Amino acid sequence: MTHSIILYDYGGPEVMKWEKIKIKKPNRGEVLIKQNNVGLNYIDVYQRNGNYQLSLPSSIGMEGVGVVSEIGEEVKNIKVGDRVGYVMGPPGAYAEFRLYPAERLIKLPNDISDSKAAAILLKGLTVSYLIKKTFPVKRGQKVLFHAAAGGVGLIACQWLNKLGVEVIGTVSSEEKAELAKANGCSHTINYLYEDFASRVEEITNGKGVPVVYDGVGKDTFDGSIKSLSPFGMLVSFGASSGPPPNLSLASLAKKSLYVTRPSLAPHTETEKLIKEISDPLFDLINEGVSVNINQKYSLKDAAHAHSVLQNRKTTGSTIFEI
Ligand SMILES: NC(=O)c1ccc[n+]([C@@H]2O[C@H](COP(=O)([O-])OP(=O)(O)OC[C@H]3O[C@@H](n4cnc5c(N)ncnc54)[C@H](OP(=O)(O)O)[C@@H]3O)[C@@H](O)[C@H]2O)c1
Repeated sequence: MTHSIILYDYGGPEVMKWEKIKIKKPNRGEVLIKQNNVGLNYIDVYQRNGNYQLSLPSSIGMEGVGVVSEIGEEVKNIKVGDRVGYVMGPPGAYAEFRLYPAERLIKLPNDISDSKAAAILLKGLTVSYLIKKTFPVKRGQKVLFHAAAGGVGLIACQWLNKLGVEVIGTVSSEEKAELAKANGCSHTINYLYEDFASRVEEITNGKGVPVVYDGVGKDTFDGSIKSLSPFGMLVSFGASSGPPPNLSLASLAKKSLYVTRPSLAPHTETEKLIKEISDPLFDLINEGVSVNINQKYSLKDAAHAHSVLQNRKTTGSTIFEI
C-alpha cells in the first residue's frame, strides 16, 4: 500500500484527503515512479476547486520528481533507477508512487537535485515558452509581468533580466517588492494600492509595453490591456484572482492589439517539444539561476499549503517532500 491525496468533491483545501491506496502495475508505455518531491502550482488550486474538471474521485497535481521503480512493456527510453521529473500529463502528482507515460518524462541532469527540479520544472518551462515562443522578447524592451514575486514570477524576473529586458513587476507587499527586485525586476508596483496601468504609462514615458504576461486574470485584465503599446500583446496565462472577463474583439481595434491564452500542455506533448523548452531552462540553471524554494511542506499537509498559496502568503516556489 501507499498514500495519495484523493478528491471526491471539488471545494476548499479541506476536500483533499490523504488516503491509503494500492500501488498499481505500469501499463504498456508507462513507468511507476517513487516520488521524492512534488511541486505546488496554481493549477493544482484550479483542479481542486473545480475550475479545471477532473474525473472524480481523482488525485491532483502536475509536477513530480523521483526514481523509476518499475517499467511497463515497450518502454525503451527509461530504465529502472533513472532519476526523472515530469510536468503536466494526467493529474496525480500528489502521491508517494504514481504511474506516468514514459515518453513524456524528463531525465534529470545529475547536478540538479530533486527539490530544485520540483521547484523549477513546471514554472521554468512555462517561463521558457512564454518569453521564447509566445512573445519572444528582445533586448532593451520593457515588459509587464504580474505577480512578479510568485513562483513563475521570480524565475521570469531573473531570466528576462539576463536577456537584457527591463521587467516592470506587480506585487502585493513591500517584502514581495524587495524580493522581486533582488531577482532582477527593475520596477515594482504594489497593485493593491496603485493603479498599475498609470504607473506603467509613467515608467514607459507614455508609450506602454509591447507585452503583458498576466497570470492574475480577473483583477488585472482591464489594466493589462490599458498598459499595452499599439500592436502589443496580452499573454493571459493564468487566473489566480479568477477567470478574466469575456473580451469584445472590437475593444482591441484602437491599438490593434493581440491577445493570447497559452498553456504549457501543448508545449509538452512530445519529447521534441519538451526539449525545445527544457534545453534553454537547463542552460539557465547551469548559468546559476536562483531557485527560490521559499516554502516546504509534507505532502500530507497539502491542504495547509493550498491555503497559504491562495492567501497570497507564499513567495517563489513551494515544494512538497515525501
Ligand atoms: N498557462 C500556463 O502554461 C501556466 C503554467 C504555469 C502557471 N500558470 C499560471 O501562472 C500563475 C502563477 O503560477 P504560480 O504557481 O507561480 O503561482 P504564484 O504566482 O506563486 O501564486 C499566485 C500569485 O498570484 C497573485 N495574486 C493576485 N491576486 C490573487 C488572488 N486574488 N488570489 C491569489 N493570488 C493572487 C499573488 O501574488 P501577489 O500577492 O504579489 O499579488 C499570488 O502569490 C497562475 O495563474 C498559474 O495558473 C500558467
